[in-house]
Amino acid sequence: MQQTFKLRKFTPDDLQSVMQINRVCLPENYTDYFFIDLHQRFPETFIVAEENGKIVGYIMCRIEVGLNNFGFSGLIRKGHVVSIAIMPQARRKGIATALLNQAMDGMRYYKAKQCYLEVRVTNVAGVQLYKKLGFEVSRTINGYYSDGEDAYMMTKKL
Ligand code: ACO
Ligand code: ZN
Repeated sequence: MQQTFKLRKFTPDDLQSVMQINRVCLPENYTDYFFIDLHQRFPETFIVAEENGKIVGYIMCRIEVGLNNFGFSGLIRKGHVVSIAIMPQARRKGIATALLNQAMDGMRYYKAKQCYLEVRVTNVAGVQLYKKLGFEVSRTINGYYSDGEDAYMMTKKL
């Protein structure tokens, strides 16, 4: 099938659309300052997907210095996928896969060696998406979410 979507970097004009998609798709929501701050610090890993000129998905990330998630000692730069979401009507077309791949290129640009994220243990679509892209479960974080649900921390080498 022909690709119906287009990826581009986030710009501050996209803020309301992205915040709306975040509210529709996920219970974890953030202030406008939080989005703008991530964009100012890491513009290469804040990407949106458009279909027919309308934003239907986004990914935003942060670069951190921390312990190697694969258990080796020492501090490394890691890319952290803070949030990714695709509007319900635009799912299962490869948009999240494309956004993650472009964000991981951005992480490599920032010299990150690993990419990681947290995902609800019951989020089948999310877990399957990440596994298909080569992420592995590093550990379970008990009670990670505000409603008490556990998270898988999943990591991929870059
Ligand atoms: N059930 C099972 N597997 C799925 C599903 C599903 N509903 N959706 C995607 N997958 C897997 C499949 O293996 C799929 O490949 P296939 O279609 O060839 O079978 C693969 O993921 C790639 O799918 P994409 O089309 O790239 O994913 P999509 O654009 O539909 O977005 C996403 C997936 C982001 C999980 C979407 O369902 C969504 O927005 N969900 C709500 C928000 C959310 O859960 N975000 C992630 C939270 S964790 C975080 O933000 C770090
Ligand atoms: Zn996180």
